[in-house]
Amino acid sequence: MKSPIFMVSRSNNTITGREVDYMIANEEEQAEVRSARVLLPTIPGQVTPDTPLESLNLNWRERDLPEKERTKHVHRLHPYLGKFIPQLTEVFLRKYFGRGQTVLDPFVGSGTTLVQANELGINSIGYDISAFNVLLCRAKTAHYDISEMQREVLDILARVKAATQISSSQRSLTGEVIETLSISGMDNEYLQQWFAPRALSELLTYRSFIETGDYQYTDLLKVILSRAARSARLTTHFDLDFPKRPVTEPYWCYKHSRICSPTEEAFKFLNRYSKDTIKRVKQFQEIRTDASVQLFHEDSRKATYPENNGIFTSPPYVGLIDYHEQHAYAYHLLGLQDMRESEIGAASNGSSMKAQERYKKDIAEVFCRASEFMPAGSRIIVVANDRANLYGDVADMVGVEVEGIINRCVNRRTGRRSGEFYESIFVWRKC
Ligand SMILES: C[S@@+](CC[C@H](N)C(=O)[O-])C[C@H]1O[C@@H](n2cnc3c(N)ncnc32)[C@H](O)[C@@H]1O
Repeated sequence: MKSPIFMVSRSNNTITGREVDYMIANEEEQAEVRSARVLLPTIPGQVTPDTPLESLNLNWRERDLPEKERTKHVHRLHPYLGKFIPQLTEVFLRKYFGRGQTVLDPFVGSGTTLVQANELGINSIGYDISAFNVLLCRAKTAHYDISEMQREVLDILARVKAATQISSSQRSLTGEVIETLSISGMDNEYLQQWFAPRALSELLTYRSFIETGDYQYTDLLKVILSRAARSARLTTHFDLDFPKRPVTEPYWCYKHSRICSPTEEAFKFLNRYSKDTIKRVKQFQEIRTDASVQLFHEDSRKATYPENNGIFTSPPYVGLIDYHEQHAYAYHLLGLQDMRESEIGAASNGSSMKAQERYKKDIAEVFCRASEFMPAGSRIIVVANDRANLYGDVADMVGVEVEGIINRCVNRRTGRRSGEFYESIFVWRKC
């Protein structure tokens, strides 16, 4: 009997594997097993600059890369639709960037590139047109005094609890001092539509304490508030990504297979996410490095970029996602600057031929500008689900050498959007 190895079987050209005791019967089978082993999914932590591009297998299955790993520490500080997984970033950062170098992400989104770069000691620069995304990235990548961060998160929670969860008769019995608040925002039409009155008053109370309290980690508190607001909206449990209209009546819930009712409160979410945030920030602080992180709330078509050693990014796609609209509740609640008219490829503009031509020009403009600030030979690595085949033209417009294109199967496992799709990783070299 030989020692355990991976036996692989093929179905629809995908590799599925399980560890078994396997008797290698003949040479043909041995060769089959050897080539299949090469194709087993890449372990991100083992990638080095010498790992050949063609040896990468990025088709991780759930068992290779469980959800817990894909959403580790601050990567799940707040939901965000359209992010790539940190392990994909890690593979390319390990291959093409070294400690002390600088990676640029001109479409930084929820900050996956910046967080992973920091873990690896690589400096990073991020740009995004969406103020909420920049806020989220700042909260993820900030340096924290952990005990002070914990104190602030629990302090504001306790104050909101005292102000909203205890009736005034209870308060007078315990002799508690009632904090008198003038809460603005109760008359905001959007907020009134999307939140039950009790939920809205809890959220606005939290906001008013951020504004009036003497807290130093206000970005983090705003992220907790936004995450709680997202969960407390008057919508169904299965439609949190893009709810079309408020739901005020009980409904059949696909997620829980029973009748559910829209939530009327927000405090339970503030409580849950405060504790989760403390845990996640602590986890990241234990492994983070001192590599620098720079963030800019700017249109990346117009930016003057700092010097950098290359790009790792996933641009918006044409006609797919409205990045501001996705977090509309946060814009209304936090009063963030809305720059949606400058979003590249905004879903609201559709995906007509005209929109595609405009999109290619916009994306090429970003990479042309950014590449002025990197040495020849630097890599521009772009992750996109290029269903309309636009990136060949973009590469020509930017004038880069195409070093490789890797297709990877993405197996979405959550929510009603679950299902497979393919994305491509374009590896370009600045000439
Ligand atoms: C696919 S997402 C990036 C996701 C990111 N890789 C992550 O893991 O979270 C694309 C981002 O491009 C941003 N964006 C769209 N138009 C932009 C522009 N003109 N300038 C800068 N950022 C823009 C969107 O706001 C969005 O956050």
